Amino acid sequence: MSAFLTVDDVSRVFGPNLNTGEKIAARLGAQVETRSVRAVSDVSLTVSKGETLGLVGESGCGKSTLGRLMAGILAPTSGTVLIDGAPVMVNGVKATTRVQTVFQDPFASLDPRMKVGDTVSEGPIAHGLTTRAQAKAYVAGWFEKVGLDPGWTDRFPHQFSGGQRQRVAIARALAMQPDMLICDEPVASLDVSIQAQIINLFLELTRDLELTTVFISHDLSVVQHVSDRVAVMYLGRIVEVGPVAQVFNNPAHPYTDALFGSVPKLVLDADELVHFDTITGEVPSPLAPPSGCYFHPRCPLATPVCSSDVPCMQSLPDMRTVACHHFKEQFAKSFGKAG
Ligand SMILES: Nc1ncnc2c1ncn2[C@@H]1O[C@H](COP(=O)(O)OP(=O)(O)O)[C@@H](O)[C@H]1O
Ligand SMILES: [Mg+2]
Repeated sequence: MSAFLTVDDVSRVFGPNLNTGEKIAARLGAQVETRSVRAVSDVSLTVSKGETLGLVGESGCGKSTLGRLMAGILAPTSGTVLIDGAPVMVNGVKATTRVQTVFQDPFASLDPRMKVGDTVSEGPIAHGLTTRAQAKAYVAGWFEKVGLDPGWTDRFPHQFSGGQRQRVAIARALAMQPDMLICDEPVASLDVSIQAQIINLFLELTRDLELTTVFISHDLSVVQHVSDRVAVMYLGRIVEVGPVAQVFNNPAHPYTDALFGSVPKLVLDADELVHFDTITGEVPSPLAPPSGCYFHPRCPLATPVCSSDVPCMQSLPDMRTVACHHFKEQFAKSFGKAG
């Protein structure tokens, strides 16, 4: 399979963004945050045509930043992102309509003063995918495709439910006739009952339209359901990538193991007290990440090499890659557990 999306050694640093007053205060020795955040650090990965890649990790690990870099709406500090061999950004400006995005909060991403039909047709008209005269019929077609009443194009966002608004946002993305969708927590703001409907809609659309998709979610069960492969992020780095069944069932990285162990599971202990089994230790600040492997302070397998050397990505025979000095031990542990 050939790579459709190629992320090559991409990093994104957010500067301290000090205003003049803060710069002066910092120079005078005041406590002002002057460090920068390395939100995405040396990430390389590929997504094949028609594939859905899930992107998981704890809050603040850089998932949204990586999603925006892949969608060409945020410039990398270094590295390149290619879609079908062409850069997604040229001179800091998005250079393709082939990738579109769907975000978590459709209320925030839709203009409240615009009829939803106009919101959906704006991009396609600007890019010559439809004409002003045909826009209404064009939008109605996409409304039908996403399960909305085609007669609702003259309504405003507040006249829709949360799930319907997300369908409008999906119609807006699809009306640009993309080959690829980047979905950033697209069901996180919806009621659980509605989440399943929208997830099924995604599955149906990605199959029918042969879309290549990156599906970002902190909800592991959602990612497991929709993804072919999954990438696990920790503090801006990818630690493991592979087919969803292998990564979920036999994690090759101790962080993946800990993350999946932290899915709130009800545990009955000896005193019959119900508690949640969660990951131990704090997530270090991205302003001051640890040396070596970022996970070493929380890792049960850590040895001195883990605090001195950044582990490089290694390929395993089962189509996955992992960045861990002790992946063989972890792998043996996972298989022991599974067996
Ligand atoms: N525009 C920005 N300016 C400064 N820092 C940012 C900006 N966007 C994200 N960050 C920082 O980058 C890190 C990763 O954020 P984000 O990509 O939103 O993570 P996630 O989506 O996994 O929760 C966080 O430490 C966040 O505070
Ligand atoms: Mg996010």
